[in-house]
Amino acid sequence: MPDSRKTYPVRLILGMQWGDEGKGKIVDLLGEGTQIVARYQGGHNAGHTVRFDDETFILHLIPTGILRSGTLCLIGNGVVIDPDALLGEMQVLEKRNVRVEGRVKISRYAHFILPYHVILEKCLEERGESGRIGTTGRGIGPAYADKIYRLGIRVEDVLDEDRLKHKVDRAVLEHNHLLSSAYGAEEVAAAEVLDSLLRFRDRFRDSIVDVSGYLHRACREGKSILIEGAQGTLLDVDFGTYPFVTSSHTIIGGASSGLGLPIRKIDKVIGVAKAYTTRVGNGPFPTELTDDMGDFLRKAGSEFGATTGRPRRCGWFDAVVVSFAIKINDVDYIALTKLDVLDDLDEIKICTGYTVGDEVIGDWTETCAYWEDVKPVYETMPGWKQSLAGISSFEELPEAARNYIGRLEELCGVPMGIISVGSGREETIMRGDL
Ligand code: IMP
Repeated sequence: MPDSRKTYPVRLILGMQWGDEGKGKIVDLLGEGTQIVARYQGGHNAGHTVRFDDETFILHLIPTGILRSGTLCLIGNGVVIDPDALLGEMQVLEKRNVRVEGRVKISRYAHFILPYHVILEKCLEERGESGRIGTTGRGIGPAYADKIYRLGIRVEDVLDEDRLKHKVDRAVLEHNHLLSSAYGAEEVAAAEVLDSLLRFRDRFRDSIVDVSGYLHRACREGKSILIEGAQGTLLDVDFGTYPFVTSSHTIIGGASSGLGLPIRKIDKVIGVAKAYTTRVGNGPFPTELTDDMGDFLRKAGSEFGATTGRPRRCGWFDAVVVSFAIKINDVDYIALTKLDVLDDLDEIKICTGYTVGDEVIGDWTETCAYWEDVKPVYETMPGWKQSLAGISSFEELPEAARNYIGRLEELCGVPMGIISVGSGREETIMRGDL
């Protein structure tokens, strides 16, 4: 069940499906009074939406904690940063009167996304045809690939202009060679890359820190820390639906390596799952609905990407997927979001397993060999056919909604500690002692 910040100073919030579970709202909610919010992976492919006081904010790179005054935001070494995107996001927030100055600190070991990464990704996607991933087109994969190739440019490099110039020249030379000879694509000018990195340096010079050291000190001092995941478990580069995944470690281990924080410092793990399932981009999605019901969920849930505006694929809640995500992340409780989207339905289905030919499979890991062929096994539950608007306690929920939640808890094996029945901060049911 939800817990006291005093007892559990370091909490991790991550996605249980294919991203877009509503993590932004949950981080914002639990972030009240939290001293530090830290991002550990991904980049501006993420789109975390937060609504309050009739305003909507969509954050891509900056941790959601920026919307709570007094919270310090850390961007860890596991994040990839497009310098212009970060500058742009800061400007948008400032224009909307969110104080950002001095509140964002960036790991010296984080890597940059640069224009050649975006062009390279476009080339790869265009040539991929049927194997196309359907990425967000932000250059995420090539930036992480450069990190592994040891060709990446890190945030700390901007602090030494000569070294930076040398590194940019080398990286641009390598990429231009690849872009022009392999793909016949446009080349990138080293001077433009350098300019954008120097603009970043001028703005963020004083914000470049050792994030790991920061967090260790904060832990010693007993400060409250919220770690914010982006994307979701099924998009993890190893444990997701590879190759239809993002290029970072979205799971609990990524939080440790992406921040330089020992995993044993994490006190509580909160998984965020939608009351149904969505996915953007290509790849396996066993409970996808390509009929009118899928259209209904897309419309009722406004299921269009916060970053790219793409329509999301929609389907029923998949307890096999969520149980796997709970297991691999050692989740303590689930924050169940968008329950209200199901308000008008006569019946609601839950996937409890799959069949492949005559075989029944109940474990996600076993399905990997058959992703294309699995057929979901559904259990059907009656809908509640009434609006959940204004409901603020579990007991007030209609019986059918309580039964639906109860069944999800049975199937997934952990409590649904937070239930979201609308996009606003107040449209939330907190169960237990917060
Ligand atoms: P990339 O992260 O842009 O490389 O995209 C790889 C896959 O992850 C694609 O299927 C994207 O649609 C998906 N993806 C990336 N970021 C998000 C997100 O924030 N929410 C949902 N899906 C995402």
